Amino acid sequence: MDGTRTARILVLGGDHIGPEVAAAGVEILRLCAEIAGMDIAIETDLLGGASWDVHHSFCTDDVLAKAQAADAVLVGSVGGPEWDEIVVTGPVTEQDGLIKLRVGLGVYNALRPARSWKSLHAVTPFRASVIDGADVLVVRENAGGSYFGEPRGTETLADGQVRAFEMSEYRTPEVERIARCAFEAAGSRRGRVASLDKANVMETGRLWRDTVARIGREEYPDIELEHLYMDYALYALCVKPKEFDVIVTDNLFGDLVSDMTGALAGSLGMLPSASLPGPGRVEVAIGPAIFEPAHGSAPDIAGTGIANPIGSILSVAMMFQYAFARSDVATAIESAVERTLDSGIRTPDIGGTATTAAITDAVKTALLNQANERK
Ligand code: IPM
Ligand code: MG
Repeated sequence: MDGTRTARILVLGGDHIGPEVAAAGVEILRLCAEIAGMDIAIETDLLGGASWDVHHSFCTDDVLAKAQAADAVLVGSVGGPEWDEIVVTGPVTEQDGLIKLRVGLGVYNALRPARSWKSLHAVTPFRASVIDGADVLVVRENAGGSYFGEPRGTETLADGQVRAFEMSEYRTPEVERIARCAFEAAGSRRGRVASLDKANVMETGRLWRDTVARIGREEYPDIELEHLYMDYALYALCVKPKEFDVIVTDNLFGDLVSDMTGALAGSLGMLPSASLPGPGRVEVAIGPAIFEPAHGSAPDIAGTGIANPIGSILSVAMMFQYAFARSDVATAIESAVERTLDSGIRTPDIGGTATTAAITDAVKTALLNQANERK
């Protein structure tokens, strides 16, 4: 985005620590837009339990329409025990606000990067030699599989047993398009894709493997592709994480593996994500996408001001990269985060005592310093 048009950002803080970390992200967003000379307009609304309490819907049609009209959506985090027991009848999109948003925006490509940070090696469960330089990107299929397959349901059988079921289902085009996203991403990284599946037991796994292999062979012959069984891949990620570059996998497996990669960074609180309606080539701005930290709503620390805002701040970096085609700003944010961590300022999840506000201020100071150094 070149500053000739106002970028519209919808901020949906969600529940518990969600609004706290989203506010930190917004501070960084405003500062970076100012430094970059970009015009932005920010609107906020409700999502998740906060929306349920007011509207009896986890994501209203009105919020979805606002998201569809925006250039980017920044989400905090949703959910909490207060709303766990609520069962909404109808499609799965009514049961979870985030899922409704994902479907409504068609964001089938979830990019979940995780890297190791030198100054945080000691707070990870890994030896420095195992993780130094680890840098992986999970490309999660975000719009299909067992999250959406029909039929699904829970029923009481004649003998009184309760039967719950869902369908894991993929069609060729769904796998083809996410495979392309992974190969594209690998092309601007280290050129390697690991595709994870359970082709040894699952029908969808076989389709997944054959399809990813064909797209790789026919369209991306220069990208190195390996297929790993999901179970072994989790083991390999723990013992030799540096061997991974891009990981592509289905919706459920991607949900699982992307949390695991949080251990490489030192905390789930460090991880950003972007859910895009297309491959997200770096130079091309694409339609409304969702940017959100990978962590949950952490009800136990809500309101105490100690939530780690870095996942949200790095999600804003991804917003600049993918929604505004400003990878220069994304890089600047990442450097500012690195400087902050190197200076020893940390929230409790990464071994410190600093508050959300203190981290956010430190990142802002680093951004301003960097901007002055460039002048
Ligand atoms: C995630 C979350 C969501 C998911 C939940 C909140 C529906 O775990 O974004 O990883 O399962 O996709
Ligand atoms: Mg998850």
